[in-house]
Parts: sequence; structure tokens; C-alpha cells
Amino acid sequence: MNVTGSITPTSDTTLAAQLTGVRKVYRMGESETVALDRVDLSIPAGEIVALVGPSGSGKSTLCSIAGGILTPSAGSVIVGGQEITGYTPRQLTAFRRETIGFVFQSVNLVPFLTARENLLVVDEIGRRHRSAARARADELLEELGLSEHSRHLPGELSGGQRQRVAIGRALMNDPALVLFDEPTSSLDTALGDHVMGLIRSEMKVRNTAAIVDTHDERVTHHADRTVHIIDGVLNA
Ligand SMILES: Nc1ncnc2c1ncn2[C@@H]1O[C@H](COP(=O)(O)OP(=O)(O)OP(=O)(O)O)[C@@H](O)[C@H]1O
Ligand SMILES: [Mg+2]
Repeated sequence: MNVTGSITPTSDTTLAAQLTGVRKVYRMGESETVALDRVDLSIPAGEIVALVGPSGSGKSTLCSIAGGILTPSAGSVIVGGQEITGYTPRQLTAFRRETIGFVFQSVNLVPFLTARENLLVVDEIGRRHRSAARARADELLEELGLSEHSRHLPGELSGGQRQRVAIGRALMNDPALVLFDEPTSSLDTALGDHVMGLIRSEMKVRNTAAIVDTHDERVTHHADRTVHIIDGVLNA
């Protein structure tokens, strides 16, 4: 890994995430794509950042790096007080499980498990006691207005309800940072607005930070801050 020597980030525990001088280059055969360049982004605990940019601007790449799915070509990434830049794959797996919540556009619920079981799956790989995990899942389902649907399979839920299950799942392990990739893109305007409002209230009540990737300027008023990204460069 190639980490720039000139940057010596200091870990600030009031920050949920701090990206400094992040660069990401994808190499495919002869060609190179600079997906991110000189990205500096600090997110205080509890802040909701909307990351807005056109297709191909680097949004998913930035979230993947903040979530420890991809490693940067250069720069430093500190999330939840952990400098993850030099982590081994094994350390990154633990980091993703314990420190990050992910809500992907495709939602990715397990189709043959009920809403409640989809939340409990997170804990199968976590370390919470079984009864504590069930209580946590039920509490989240209730907050998200899904108590009545906890025994439904994803195929028996509406798009918005599936989104809410995915939000609940992302919150099961009390993450420092939740990454939302286009959470409203498959929803109509009213439902998209509702889901963003829900994301906001769920994050605020826990003082959990979030990055919300979106093309959708209609939902950015729910964020505390909007950061624009064009050709891999941030523009606040
Ligand atoms: N695995 C990869 N290999 C090579 N190039 C990639 C890879 N992933 C992304 N890219 C390129 O990096 C750039 C940024 O892609 P990224 O997926 O981060 O954009 P995005 O803003 O999330 O786009 P969208 O809104 O369409 O999801 C694009 O030019 C893309 O083609
Ligand atoms: Mg994307």
C-alpha cells in the first residue's frame, strides 16, 4: 500500500470519520481511472452528510473506502477512532462488523428469513447474548414501525418496509458510521422523503454519523451538510 508520508492525522475521538488526502486509482490493464483524488472529509459524531454527484463521480468508491471494503491508493482513513489504513483483511472484517452499518441500494435482505431474523443475522456474527439480540431487534423493529411485520418475509413487504428493515439491520451493532448507498432511488418522492426523514431521526437519536450517497437533491434537506463530488474531487 502506498500511503503519503506527509500526512500525519491525529485521531480525534469526537469525529466519527476522518478521511485525509484519500486517493483511489483503479487499474484495468493499461488504463487507470482516478476515482478519488485529494479527498479530505471530517464527519463529527451524529452528523448526516449527503454525498451528491453524478454517476461515476466516485460516491460508491468513497463509501467503500470509509467502510473498509476498499483500501485507498493513498491517504488516511480513521473511523470510530480506528486508523484502518494499514489493517489486514481480517482486521477489516472485524472493523466492518463492529463499527460500520451498511444500507445498500439493493437492500440485500435474506429472502428466506423474516424481517426479525434479518436483524438477528447480524448478531449471529456479533457477540451479543441471544436474548439481548432479540430484545434489540424487537426494539428497533418497533421504532421503525415494523412490529406488525416482524414475521414477514422480504417478499411480503413493500419497498419502503424493506428499506426500514435494512436500516434496522444496519443499526443492530451500534455502529460509529452508517453508509447509505442511494437509499431513496427506488422509492417515489413521498416515500423517499419519508425514508430520509426516518434515517435522520434514527441517526440523531443515537448520535450516529452517516454518509448518504445520492443523486437525489430532493432528499438533501434531511442532511446536516451536503458535499458535492465531481470526478473524484469534493466540493463542499
Ligand atoms: N472496480 C472498478 N474497476 C475499475 N473502475 C472502477 C471500478 N469501480 C468504479 N470504477 C470507476 O471509478 C469511477 C467512480 O465510480 P463509483 O462507482 O465510485 O461512482 P458513483 O459516483 O458511485 O456512480 P453511480 O452514481 O453510478 O453509482 C467511475 O469512473 C467508475 O467507472
Ligand atoms: Mg455508486
